[in-house]
Amino acid sequence: MSIIENHKTNGAAFCENPKLKARDVGVFYGEKQAIFDVSLDIGANEVIALIGPSGCGKSTFLRCLNRMNDTIDICQIRGEILLDGENIYDPKVDVVPLRARVGMVFQKPNPFPKSIYDNVAYGPRIHGLAHSRVDLDEIVEKSLQRAGLWNEVKDRLHSPGTGLSGGQQQRLCIARTIAVDPEVILMDEPCSALDPIATAKIEELIDELRENYTIAIVTHSMQQAARVSQRTAYFHLGQLIEVNPTDQVFTTPQHTLTEAYITGRFG
Ligand SMILES: Nc1ncnc2c1ncn2[C@@H]1O[C@H](COP(=O)(O)OP(=O)(O)OP(=O)(O)O)[C@@H](O)[C@H]1O
Ligand SMILES: [Mg+2]
Repeated sequence: MSIIENHKTNGAAFCENPKLKARDVGVFYGEKQAIFDVSLDIGANEVIALIGPSGCGKSTFLRCLNRMNDTIDICQIRGEILLDGENIYDPKVDVVPLRARVGMVFQKPNPFPKSIYDNVAYGPRIHGLAHSRVDLDEIVEKSLQRAGLWNEVKDRLHSPGTGLSGGQQQRLCIARTIAVDPEVILMDEPCSALDPIATAKIEELIDELRENYTIAIVTHSMQQAARVSQRTAYFHLGQLIEVNPTDQVFTTPQHTLTEAYITGRFG
């Protein structure tokens, strides 16, 4: 069991215009419980940062939001997650279109062993989003432009995606995610393998993407959380300790555990 008894999340876990609602979410890996009764709203067009010490359950919680945990055999989920009011764990829900609506960008850029063009065209092809080659060309160009990569790759669209630099590969993965026109983008430490310049580009991009998408980002960088997010959720040993506007979390945290983390006393 967790060491924090009778816990209740501090601050503002709910919001007026939720895109995603998690209610009493518990996650188990076999016998071991990794997430305890987490209830949280993620607002439309907001960027929410998920922070906390290593092993506190950030990735586990993020993966609940598009059922990526389904791919882990021993993983079991309790509670509800609603996307636009509908429970994504309803047995009727098909995870393939769900994961197009709720896309994910991973820590390590993972382009497919295909050309830059085909990396981006892959999703639109399998979801039947393009009716002609011209359509597909347009989706590829628009996605690469939105991901801030078009100018760097427009003359080499048919070269392998794996031949790009790390930061370019990560922007390629973002382009691949947005090519299927998702509603939510989940990002698990998307900049941890990148240098400060590539990181700055991705952060700028996150800020632009917010106009059209809802974004949840896990980060170990408090500076990054402060730069890109409007709300910050602090996790500790599988519990959601505090959720508040980001500036408040970093200036006047409500819970002593949050304060200890942001002032570097542990983590
Ligand atoms: N596939 C798995 N099988 C069993 N246990 C797991 C699995 N994935 C995560 N866990 C456990 O669940 C807990 C939460 O892990 P999780 O990866 O969600 O933490 P995290 O906050 O993302 O950490 P980090 O900052 O290191 O990425 C940990 O105790 C971890 O060991
Ligand atoms: Mg993680």
